[in-house]
Amino acid sequence: MRKIQFFDTTLRDGEQTPGVNFNTKEKIQIAQQLEKWGIDVIEAGFPIASDGDFEAVQNIARNVKKMTVAGLARCQKKDIDRAYEALQDAVHPQIHIFLATSDVHMKYKLKMTETEVLASIKEHVSYARNLFEKVQFSPEDASRTEKSFLLKAVQTAIDAGATIINVPDTVGYSNPTEYGALFKFLIDNIQSEQEIIFSSHCHDDLGMATANALAAIENGANRVEGTVNGIGERAGNTALEEVALALYIRNDFYQANSQIELAETKRTSDLVARLSSIPVPKNKAIIGENAYAHESGIHQDGVLKNPETYEIITPSLVGVNKNSLPLGKLSGRHAFVAKLAELGYQLSDDELKTAFARFKSLADKKKQITDDDLIALLTDQHREETEQCKLSSVQVQYSSNGFQGAIVSITDSNDQTKVASTIGSGSIQAIYNAIDEIFDQDVSLTEYEIQAITAGEDAQAEVRVLLTDEKNQQTYRGVGIDFDVLQASAKAYVAASNQVFTKNI
Ligand code: KIV
Ligand code: ZN
Repeated sequence: MRKIQFFDTTLRDGEQTPGVNFNTKEKIQIAQQLEKWGIDVIEAGFPIASDGDFEAVQNIARNVKKMTVAGLARCQKKDIDRAYEALQDAVHPQIHIFLATSDVHMKYKLKMTETEVLASIKEHVSYARNLFEKVQFSPEDASRTEKSFLLKAVQTAIDAGATIINVPDTVGYSNPTEYGALFKFLIDNIQSEQEIIFSSHCHDDLGMATANALAAIENGANRVEGTVNGIGERAGNTALEEVALALYIRNDFYQANSQIELAETKRTSDLVARLSSIPVPKNKAIIGENAYAHESGIHQDGVLKNPETYEIITPSLVGVNKNSLPLGKLSGRHAFVAKLAELGYQLSDDELKTAFARFKSLADKKKQITDDDLIALLTDQHREETEQCKLSSVQVQYSSNGFQGAIVSITDSNDQTKVASTIGSGSIQAIYNAIDEIFDQDVSLTEYEIQAITAGEDAQAEVRVLLTDEKNQQTYRGVGIDFDVLQASAKAYVAASNQVFTKNI
């Protein structure tokens, strides 16, 4: 049985999702969960991109023991040196160098000829090979590269010391037949004395990222790159949970397996959804809320008689717990701690104290506290703990005609509280005007979404916002959860404003 390696780029390509910015603490948390999930290689970031990226890659390199830790670099010595520095403490370091090889990229983006591109690959892959044992090369936009030139680029990288060749479908242009054939062509035609790992890297612009990755595996790729929940640049990357399950459920067909701990899948997905503020669509394969729900009477009847009639995946296989018992007002600290452990949370004593107090306060307002409520509660606590400027209070004056008024106060990390009182056409606009005044920011609200976390009138509200900073057109996401919709709206806006503020310091 072939073993397929999993390369996770949630912290690099995944962080290229508009508005997603993980802080270092969050990146370490995700890395640790990826290790539990069974990922072979984690792309921790792009060390030259910023001091924050460098620090995150370095911290992950120091915290991760089993996985190989990779850092991205362009074909430039300064990028390779910076990646080397960041990865020095990794048990298994790897560099990932890329250079575009398609005509359109070489002509318009790089302004380089084919000869110059080949020379650069040779120079930089050899340079990296002196520093790293594991060198991965990616001919960016490989799927739109003229085939004979792609082969030359790949052969040049191998001759210069690359041991891993990643074949990116950078713009999600390929299809399974074509992408699979590209792997077969490269594998059949390269010359190498040592074993080369071939890896897929697909984007989902035409909705074929998972199918393309599986076609690559069928045609000899032994590594797959992707992200958790498929987040990433534009339409995103191959969703790794989909590939892991396809290999497991259709093992008869693929005759290949992985070391992914399937039971950790839901937990990994939840963590990334929570920290990226990108919710998983209800109909998403494997981890979507509806993936194991049966609506039609005929289906329900079939599943009751034998789940295999309509269920190819048992929810527990991927860690979806359908029979979880909710907590309530009378649940004690013991039950609360046991539930957190069941959900995979490890809290410090202080965090636990705060979480239990919040739980009790929620249980006073809401009859049944479900797993989703608890995850939401901890998400909100985490948001508050990592924020520099915290929402202290919101007061709204509502009038059924005319303007609405809001008074908001926010406390910064030096314990200085600022208060603003503003009006708006609606209550939320009034609150947001006040927050803008306190942060002294010029932003526009690009997205606003509100969702109930559970069914029922006593449900908590989850508000998601996307702000665009007018100065540089950068986007920032924020999530706020509260029993009250106005408070949740204010929390979400403060969360995103904190990121605008941190970026502009
Ligand atoms: O999509 C892409 O081409 C990339 C490369 C850096 C591998 O992300
Ligand atoms: Zn990519």
